[in-house]
Amino acid sequence: MKKPVNVAITGAAGNIAYSAIFRVASGQMLGIDQPVNIKLIDIEPAMSALNGVKYELEDCAFPLLNSITTTFDLTEGFDKCDFALLIGAKPRMKGMERKDLLKDNGKIFKPQGKAIDEVANKNIKVLVVGNPANTNALIAMHNAPSIKPSQFTSMMRLDHDRSLAQVANKFNVTINEVKKIIVWGNHSNTQVPDLSYAEVSGNSIKKVMNEDWYTNNFIPRIQKRGAEIIEARGLSSAASAANAAITHMRDWVLGNNDWLSIGQISNGNPFGISENLMFSFPSVCSNGSYSIIGNLAISEVLNDYIKTTENELLNERDSVLDLL
Ligand code: NAD
Ligand code: LMR
Repeated sequence: MKKPVNVAITGAAGNIAYSAIFRVASGQMLGIDQPVNIKLIDIEPAMSALNGVKYELEDCAFPLLNSITTTFDLTEGFDKCDFALLIGAKPRMKGMERKDLLKDNGKIFKPQGKAIDEVANKNIKVLVVGNPANTNALIAMHNAPSIKPSQFTSMMRLDHDRSLAQVANKFNVTINEVKKIIVWGNHSNTQVPDLSYAEVSGNSIKKVMNEDWYTNNFIPRIQKRGAEIIEARGLSSAASAANAAITHMRDWVLGNNDWLSIGQISNGNPFGISENLMFSFPSVCSNGSYSIIGNLAISEVLNDYIKTTENELLNERDSVLDLL
């Protein structure tokens, strides 16, 4: 048996965490040979609910679950952590954009970044889910100067998976037959789902795709899918978000050669995007790290879309300079 690793999950009494925690404990995130110590973090008023989650975790008798900690103390929660899913934050309600959450949620990520800096393992892998995820990840990263910026990522996997599913559905193929999808930029309604390089059943999607469907149906559907779910459910996505978090971390740790979309620090990127943004780029994962797929030509039309999402991230960053 491998040595147990420490996994911190914030917002652990909330909806997304309720779908994620059990999958971490069962080995779906880090592998079925990897024991885990799970550290559940939430705010003090949520401790009773969090204990309920702990009881349910115990009752699953997961063979890989070595220990469970519940806490509102960040130092205790992130102590010697190898992995962190930063989920805890307010979700948006109908009629809001995710960036409207920045004022309330941004300040959550400064103390969390500081605590990670002070007590987590230096090679910790962090995924920020709480919205607006990209700028919150930038805040956490800035407050943890002793950790490499590339150890912080923001979640674009849900947008990526939504794109895969819409294409598979449109062309009546299985998910496995859809490859090389990209989602650029921010997890917001300016994100850029890009099918320029996409393949369906081994052929360029361009052979079967109608441009009007791509521009007027596919792009806005993906950009607004989160709002579509809030409208239908009255609550924001939870199980699909948890699934995206689990697979994002799994692929980062265990590898995946498929094209993926990962929100990551833009420093040194080959596409001319401004430095010091958490921006989603096409990426692959191997040997415990991810790398950008470079050498991709970007059409003028897409470039305009990409500029819009970049500008939005620059504006979000400007509004939280006091937290960086
Ligand atoms: P929720 O309201 O069900 O749960 C949020 C939890 O976070 C609550 O238990 C709350 O007590 C806790 N919390 C609040 N402040 C905290 C803090 N400082 N430290 C630790 N915990 C704290 O919300 P949810 O549905 O689980 O969503 C969580 C976040 O994830 C929201 O911001 C939502 O918008 C976002 N989200 C992101 C994506 C994505 O793709 N990036 C997808 C879905 C949802
Ligand atoms: C999503 O994309 O489902 C989440 O970011 C929740 C939201 O606010 O849309």
